[in-house]
Amino acid sequence: MKTIAITGGAGFIGSHVVRLFVNKYPEYKIVNIDKLTYAGNLANLKDVESLPNYEFVKADIVDADTMMQLFKKHQFDAVIHLAAESHVDRSITNPTEFVFTNVIGTVNLLNAAKAIWKDNFKDKLFYHVSTDEVYGSLGEEGLFTETSNYDPHSPYSASKASSDHFVRAYFDTYGLPSLISNCSNNYGSYQFPEKLIPLFINNIRNNKPLPVYGKGENVRDWLWVEDHARAIDVIFHKGALGGTYNIGGHNEWTNIDLIKVMCRILDKKLGRPEGTSEQGITYVKDRAGHDMRYAIDASKLQNELDWKPSLQFEEGLEKTIDWYLENENWLENITSGNYQAYYEKQYIKR
Ligand code: NAD
Ligand code: TYD
Repeated sequence: MKTIAITGGAGFIGSHVVRLFVNKYPEYKIVNIDKLTYAGNLANLKDVESLPNYEFVKADIVDADTMMQLFKKHQFDAVIHLAAESHVDRSITNPTEFVFTNVIGTVNLLNAAKAIWKDNFKDKLFYHVSTDEVYGSLGEEGLFTETSNYDPHSPYSASKASSDHFVRAYFDTYGLPSLISNCSNNYGSYQFPEKLIPLFINNIRNNKPLPVYGKGENVRDWLWVEDHARAIDVIFHKGALGGTYNIGGHNEWTNIDLIKVMCRILDKKLGRPEGTSEQGITYVKDRAGHDMRYAIDASKLQNELDWKPSLQFEEGLEKTIDWYLENENWLENITSGNYQAYYEKQYIKR
């Protein structure tokens, strides 16, 4: 029996990682530590919340004392750390929040792990989940590899880069067993509709404008979230300590091409004449410091740990659009803010 802390498990990617681990490893006890910010939604985990090997703890990783107490109480064998402020646009308006959660929160977890493991690190692991955005922006050619220089531009990517450096520093200085993975843009079910794909699905559904930043020529490499969760599973179990693994879909799209594909799929699914949804496209002021292109070389992960994406993008995008259309309640609850009452109903008044 292992006890694993998963931070940020009520968020988009975290909820997929929790679901995978709770279902696949009944011999692991999974403790989901999440503050439930605007991005945390326990409704994402309804299907696993009553399983015996799952526990939820509402806590803020910025609170060092609480983290230390939680580590003492549960004696975690491993941490999979996903809790973060994750939206670039929010980081531009409120960078400090990103320093607190992404940098200080990560250091608090590293300190708690180091203290509880008392420098006896056998069979222990701190797995830090990070982003390809730490590498900065690519020109038309080339891919990010594990040895690409760090060159973050947004407050979000600067805070994630800083947290990556702390994880490596604890490995180099104290020998704290750790691993980092840097993944490209994820898409799939349960993503908060502030990020491009769910925001645009929701806006198309509601006949709202589709705000394209700049000329829509920026490029992102999209990976299905469940393939990211599978990669985390493989790296968690087989990754080399102190290692870094890039995770990506080999699936580059300019924003405008991707948006047009979404419009076409949704026209069909909503029974609208072809070309209707595209009429909502509205070019707006570009994001400040907008990175031009991200693209990942995931060959290390494929060659060393035999992971590769399971879905073609067109299939994944269609699946994702179907999920949002079939889960209108989930979307309505988010956009109305109702989901925030779920914790109280589920965990306090019981
Ligand atoms: P998200 O914003 O959907 O979820 C973040 C979760 O962390 C939420 O449940 C939130 O309540 C929780 N949280 C935030 N601050 C907290 C705090 N102070 N204490 C405890 N919990 C807190 O994010 P996501 O998209 O699921 O991303 C998860 C991780 O993966 C992040 O570390 C992010 O940097 C990384 N990542 C994301 C992507 C992507 O495309 N979304 C790609 C690569 C890496
Ligand atoms: P986003 O989903 O915020 O992810 P990230 O910035 O971390 O890559 O944005 C993806 C791309 O879509 C990015 O180039 C910005 C662009 N974008 C828009 O054009 N309009 C929008 O409303 C949003 C949210 C993003």
